[in-house]
Amino acid sequence: MAGSPTASLVLAAIGPTPFWYATRGSGYAALLLLSAVVVLGLLMSARWHSPTWPRFLTQSLHRNLSLLTVVFLTIHVAASIIDPFAGLTVKDAVIPFAAGYRPLWLGLGVVGLELFAAIVITSLLRHRLGWRAWQVVHLLSYVAWPVAVLHTIGTGTDTRQAWALLLDVACVGVVAVTLVWRLGVGWPKQAGLRATGMVASLASVIALAAWTASGPLQPGWARTAGTPANLLSPTATPAANQSP
Ligand code: HEM
Repeated sequence: MAGSPTASLVLAAIGPTPFWYATRGSGYAALLLLSAVVVLGLLMSARWHSPTWPRFLTQSLHRNLSLLTVVFLTIHVAASIIDPFAGLTVKDAVIPFAAGYRPLWLGLGVVGLELFAAIVITSLLRHRLGWRAWQVVHLLSYVAWPVAVLHTIGTGTDTRQAWALLLDVACVGVVAVTLVWRLGVGWPKQAGLRATGMVASLASVIALAAWTASGPLQPGWARTAGTPANLLSPTATPAANQSP
């Protein structure tokens, strides 16, 4: 229905459905949780602890927040499919870059979800897989998280809202600072590799900020991002935050 002009008129009359709000709310909840999981994972890999914060606390938080992320991602994807606005189907949530709505940016969400699913499933089966195989899959976190951030900023209706920007900056900032700190633990062993990682992390943050400012924060991004023409009409309420 969302692909037709009639759909836009109907949606304009009724406004965003609760599912559209659920999509956006659960999306940000998932991003915050995912960022916390990545930070905790980095702390674990450095075996960090303090007198008031034992290692088992980091480990159990890492595990339990991962499982909570699964819950919010399930709500996120289900709500985005149930909501009629973007006209998404189960296929769009499984096959990356095939959707008619903001295909590249939505597709990155699908890639992030599938990588995250692989990481969670292999962690639950860790004792059967062996440490080496588990570790190789777990390293995909370094791809899954940035891909989820690009999905958030590229497709999110709320990207231009101050609260959303604040959450994006907080997630990226905390993960980047923890990553640079992690690379510094053990210095000067493999100093060249560590320094390259630090420079690459900082360069990625600068590149992300520059792209966000020149793309998603600019008027017209909804059209550039691949929003179907009928949803760009000023009457198509849910996209109203992003001017065509
Ligand atoms: C790791 C996986 C994912 C994370 C962390 C994530 C997170 C987010 C976040 C934070 C937003 C921005 C919400 C806003 O602007 O208020 C968003 C938007 C959205 N996501 Fe995801 N997402 C993921 C995967 C997916 C998948 C697999 C789908 C497939 C159906 C999807 C569908 C959507 C839709 C439809 C939107 C709203 C687009 C719009 O505002 O126009 N996401 N996501």
